Amino acid sequence: MAPRPNLNIVPFVSVEHMMQLVLDVGIETFLLELAAVIEEDFRRWEAFDKTPRVAAHSPDGVIELMPTSDGQLYGFKYVNGHPKNTRDGLQTVTAFGILSDVASGYPLLLTEMTILTALRTAAMSAVAARHLARTDSRTMALIGNGAQSEFQALAFKAIVGIENLRLYDLDPTASERCARNLSGMGLSVKVCRSSQGAVEGADVITTVTADKQYATILSDNMVGPGTHINAVGGDCPGKTELHRDILLRSEIFVEYPPQTRIEGEIQQLGPDHPVKELWEVIAGRIEGRRSEREITLFDSVGFAVEDFSALRYVRSKIGVTGLHQGLDLLADPDEPRDLFGMLLRCEKRLKAA
Ligand SMILES: NC(=O)c1ccc[n+]([C@@H]2O[C@H](COP(=O)([O-])OP(=O)(O)OC[C@H]3O[C@@H](n4cnc5c(N)ncnc54)[C@H](O)[C@@H]3O)[C@@H](O)[C@H]2O)c1
Repeated sequence: MAPRPNLNIVPFVSVEHMMQLVLDVGIETFLLELAAVIEEDFRRWEAFDKTPRVAAHSPDGVIELMPTSDGQLYGFKYVNGHPKNTRDGLQTVTAFGILSDVASGYPLLLTEMTILTALRTAAMSAVAARHLARTDSRTMALIGNGAQSEFQALAFKAIVGIENLRLYDLDPTASERCARNLSGMGLSVKVCRSSQGAVEGADVITTVTADKQYATILSDNMVGPGTHINAVGGDCPGKTELHRDILLRSEIFVEYPPQTRIEGEIQQLGPDHPVKELWEVIAGRIEGRRSEREITLFDSVGFAVEDFSALRYVRSKIGVTGLHQGLDLLADPDEPRDLFGMLLRCEKRLKAA
């Protein structure tokens, strides 16, 4: 009989290994490859089990579980969103996730997903923009210059062809940090003094701010014809970034309507307001942008299928690079029903040691 594989051991990608993986692959190549996997999964959207994420709200933030499955693999992400955290020296968003084998239910991968979420969110935004923004888009306003911002900038450079960035954040030190981190990466970066200044001449506007309340990062007069808006920071009930009038002038594209109606910018609209599903654009079933003057809006909230794609991509990469460690995660006795016997054998071993 072939030796039984160590099924108790699950590959674990730590933050350190994730950083090495991203740097080894190259940040832009990583974003491009991840974008391709997201597109592949969006094209087979109907194969996935879908449900709005399970959210536990508190006055300070939210903790969410995001599950999905394609019938062969099952994935979920644990993620939080606490806009006040940075004041205490903590991240606004942290995450980890698991990919499992549906046939046995055994996990195949456990990984950090704080860095991976920033990468997948940026890749998703840029994929949407590639289908929705004007093809001659070269300038992007990036409003909100926190943890997600540089990832957004590089994804739009690699995937959409953005060359010029106009930064604005309520906290000027955040914009300065973002500009410094991006220096030498092939983007022309300008720090602006207001959101109004940042959107001047922008083909694409990305809003990626963090506030627990309804905010108006963009007012109606700031958005001209032909603009593509990538609204990333409004992703919870009561947490939006755009003035309602902008929504009424825009063609709105969403990930999964039942979740976006609860969490996205469109929570400001009636439950029947027409929206289009991004997967249908990616699968070639419906048109994305229809004219040069149309305002397109990707009302991003982040959906489980994107995390599934990210988990799938990382699993394929660590097989080659070895950038993981074995975690003794599963109790898996040789005789499956002898779980208690395994405990007794452990006791014997410990006493003998
Ligand atoms: N849609 C998605 O898939 C997705 C994924 C990840 C994060 N997010 C959301 O993106 C947002 C940003 O996340 P982060 O990790 O970068 O947070 P962060 O706290 O690191 O950065 C947020 C930045 O926004 C700035 N800001 C707040 N209010 C502002 C305003 N009115 N005008 C300009 N700047 C303002 C803050 O000063 C801060 O620098 C959060 O709301 C988070 O929940 C969405």
